[in-house]
Amino acid sequence: MKDAATTATPAAPASPEAYADAVATAVRAAAAYYADGSTPLGDDEYDALVRAIEAYEREHPDQVLPESPTGKVAGGAAVGDVPHSTPMLSLDNVFSAEELESWAAGLERRLGRPVAAWCVEPKLDGLAVAARYRAGRLTQVLTRGDGLAGEDITHAADAVLGLPARLAEPLDVELRGEVLLTHEQFEQANAVRTTHGATPFAHPRSGAAGTLRAKDRPYRVELTFFGYDAHGLPGLDHAELLARLAELGANTAASTEAAPRRCATLAEAEQRIEKIAALRAALPFGIDGVVVKADAVADQEQAGSGSRAPRWAVARKLQAQHKVTRLLGVEWNVGRTGIIAPRAVLDPVVIDGVTVAYATLHNPADIERRGLMIGDQVFVYRAGDVIPRVEAPLVDERTGSEQPIAFPEVCPRCGDAIDRAEQRWRCVRGRGCQAVASVIYAAGRDQLDIEGLGGTRAVQLVESGLVADLADLFTLTKDQLRTLERMGETSADNLLGAIETARTRPLNRVFCALGIRGTGRTMSRRIAAHFGSMVAIRAAHAEALAGVDGIGPEKAAVIVTELAELAALLDRLAEQGVGTEVTEPVAAAAVVAAAAATGGASAVGPVGEGTAAGPLAGQSVVVTGSMTGALAELSRNEMNELIERAGGKASSSVSKRTSLLVAGEKAGSKRVKAEELGVPVTTPEEFAVLVADFLG
Ligand code: IVH
Repeated sequence: MKDAATTATPAAPASPEAYADAVATAVRAAAAYYADGSTPLGDDEYDALVRAIEAYEREHPDQVLPESPTGKVAGGAAVGDVPHSTPMLSLDNVFSAEELESWAAGLERRLGRPVAAWCVEPKLDGLAVAARYRAGRLTQVLTRGDGLAGEDITHAADAVLGLPARLAEPLDVELRGEVLLTHEQFEQANAVRTTHGATPFAHPRSGAAGTLRAKDRPYRVELTFFGYDAHGLPGLDHAELLARLAELGANTAASTEAAPRRCATLAEAEQRIEKIAALRAALPFGIDGVVVKADAVADQEQAGSGSRAPRWAVARKLQAQHKVTRLLGVEWNVGRTGIIAPRAVLDPVVIDGVTVAYATLHNPADIERRGLMIGDQVFVYRAGDVIPRVEAPLVDERTGSEQPIAFPEVCPRCGDAIDRAEQRWRCVRGRGCQAVASVIYAAGRDQLDIEGLGGTRAVQLVESGLVADLADLFTLTKDQLRTLERMGETSADNLLGAIETARTRPLNRVFCALGIRGTGRTMSRRIAAHFGSMVAIRAAHAEALAGVDGIGPEKAAVIVTELAELAALLDRLAEQGVGTEVTEPVAAAAVVAAAAATGGASAVGPVGEGTAAGPLAGQSVVVTGSMTGALAELSRNEMNELIERAGGKASSSVSKRTSLLVAGEKAGSKRVKAEELGVPVTTPEEFAVLVADFLG
């Protein structure tokens, strides 16, 4: 499984000194982690360090240092002054399916019988809390502390969603569970912190830790509770207990896609682990593993607990998605539209099985907000297909040798001035700075699809002065082309032929070729279908553009501005007959259809945007994996165009609203999600039959 943490046991320290060093490092890391959630080590490194310490202690039981983190809840770091009703335990970890199997076998040997059933649930990456209720009213909330006594954080309870002030019944109970910041809450927290001049949280867990402890903050940060245990609700099997918690009004992981599931066998439990691991990137909160528990209360009672962890539950750890590494430098790259984007150059680090050497830094304002410096130890986040990003520096780890990040004075590509009016800086030449890149983009397969107009030719055309923008392509003559190096008779004819074919590309592709910010292939198809002609698009006000699915007021304003900037180019394209296709606009068609429905005239059927007639009418279709059979040659954009021709709506993510998933070879998490949600899944071959009439 890709998501599983490394299974190799790290080597034990080679000497008593190395062992003492390792213990000191682990103690320091655990102290920082439990103080404010920060840590000089990533989670994987900490786990590996503790396993190495354990290995040394197994070989030298007489040398175990009293401060060693092994065998202690919270690595011995945390303390508090309110005693817990029963110890708040930690969990033992396993790092592979084999380790899980031998753990389960050990448990069954101890019980002298097979485990009745397993319960598999996400290991939420937050902080454990105990919430005490008297007669159904919340009276006290405690952190885990050292497991025996915790800190009183009742003051923070108000801001914790899913932890009700009153339960549905007047019970005396103590709920236990995890408090965390969901990804959305994390973003909100950092937005509000930066507006108040505070440094952003490095990652959600440190944010949750800091927020729970903080008093008298001038702003509010919301958190979320997920219950997974309770005292005072005896006799319930684990899955029943979770259902009961939800009934009482507490949030549990049952409200998520990675819901706890009872599994009859360990093999079934392993499948569920894989599913939860595959769903991880799409979950709205962080998990750092999957917990496997003996479900039956009888099994739990017989197995009992050690001083640190129960014997009836174990955490199957997943690789951390956050890693700490060094920021070596910042590169400034100029994009197609003249945007000057900073990119972090990192000391390469493996996150979730992938080596990360670069990460996005968004924009200069973001760098300033995060207070980053070259040489900083930084938290880097990567999940699934998400572009890795630098979250924040570990300010406490600074040595004094860090250097400020130099911001460019002029455009790093053409040396002209920089427009700093918006958060994202741009070269004042805009897309002109990038004529070559713009031409290559416009000629690309999903835009005008001009064969033979790749990198070398585009450079030649621009540098020779024959082409300054897209419209110039359509006035090229054979004589002009023949003046270029390595451009023979045949090459010139071929290129002119390809350009000729491109002249009649449909509106969505011409629009996409313009490279307007925020309008990729999907958005271009929607805009083209919505307005029906370039004339109508150009005439549209921001409000009209905001009527297109997925365009908000901000994006609408950008499109209007960019279209105005492109007016001369668009006029010249129109003169050349490029982008002059006219279809029935959906907006108008919808009006006609509405009129017809209320007794008006016209029987014109609406087209485009999933409202047209066709085998996929009214359906939302997602494509994933590589296509095979009759669809093998189609790019993702062409697949989406096909779906829309057949009356459907093409979408890129699976949700409850998805009608059909076309899953090709190597389909991954989207397929898992579709199966989870009960969305029908079809093969490319079956789908090709369904839409055969619409295949070009
Ligand atoms: S059960 C006796 N279930 O992980 C019950 N713990 O690394 C022991 N955690 O201390 C805990 N999600 O803070 C349990 N579904 C889950 C959990 C979970 C996260 C935390 C909890 C625990 C830590 C151990």
